[in-house]
Amino acid sequence: MEKFWTSRHNNDDIFGLSDFDTLHENEWDESSIGRLKESGWMNRYKWEAGLISHIIKSTETPAINSILELGPGPGLLSQMVLESHPNIDYHLIDKKFAKQYFDDNNFNGEMFVKDLSVEFNTDGLLDSYDLVITNDFLEHVLNPSIVLQTIHKLMHDDSRYFISNPNWRMGHQYVYRGLFDFDNFIYMLKIHGLQPSTAGGSFIWGSPLVTPNYPKLDSEKSLPDNLVTAWNHYILMEKEKNNEKK
Ligand SMILES: C[S@@+](CC[C@H](N)C(=O)[O-])C[C@H]1O[C@@H](n2cnc3c(N)ncnc32)[C@H](O)[C@@H]1O
Repeated sequence: MEKFWTSRHNNDDIFGLSDFDTLHENEWDESSIGRLKESGWMNRYKWEAGLISHIIKSTETPAINSILELGPGPGLLSQMVLESHPNIDYHLIDKKFAKQYFDDNNFNGEMFVKDLSVEFNTDGLLDSYDLVITNDFLEHVLNPSIVLQTIHKLMHDDSRYFISNPNWRMGHQYVYRGLFDFDNFIYMLKIHGLQPSTAGGSFIWGSPLVTPNYPKLDSEKSLPDNLVTAWNHYILMEKEKNNEKK
């Protein structure tokens, strides 16, 4: 059959729903942990740790004393953040092999194993966190809405939410293509009670890594032009202050 959609990932033609990583337990097992040795990986985490550190320093009141990171993989980013901010209570949630690597390497913080694809069980977590992080994670789960609703519940009035949203131009895997185009993504965050936060001096940052230069889509009108080829869009959100239903 002739293809009728825009190809955004070179595997678009061969994926079936059951092929999506999120449904499988084997992520970060021996066959995939080698991905951490790919060149550029540590540099990306260093860049992200720098942004998170900047946000922590910029939000001294209220101070960021607790962080929850969803889908961190084995937790390398968390260790870089904790190196500069060792007193933060850092919780992470991913799958069992990610936790095995985290524990085997005596990483600081606490990793929980939970399947977040279609539900979010908060057992063992704090009532709220000062900062929540999802780094290239939301686009992998089957029910991003339940994740966003639960993140909202785990935020207090002054919490921040730091998101890395991958640019589709880099050929990422998506369950829902289009939902993560910049305008649609900001709209999804908004209907879950989240608004841009300028606590870090801006609410959006780019990446030193660049993608091929495909033109802007109609669903990317609010994306700043200088971020069209940024590998990731890093976005800082907070709870909407006046989100009483109209
Ligand atoms: C693209 S990776 C991002 C990893 C890391 N945050 C980074 O940016 O390098 C997506 C992460 O989400 C985790 N993940 C995917 N589906 C999940 C699920 N159903 N429950 C918990 N974690 C999941 C994966 O194990 C993986 O670590």
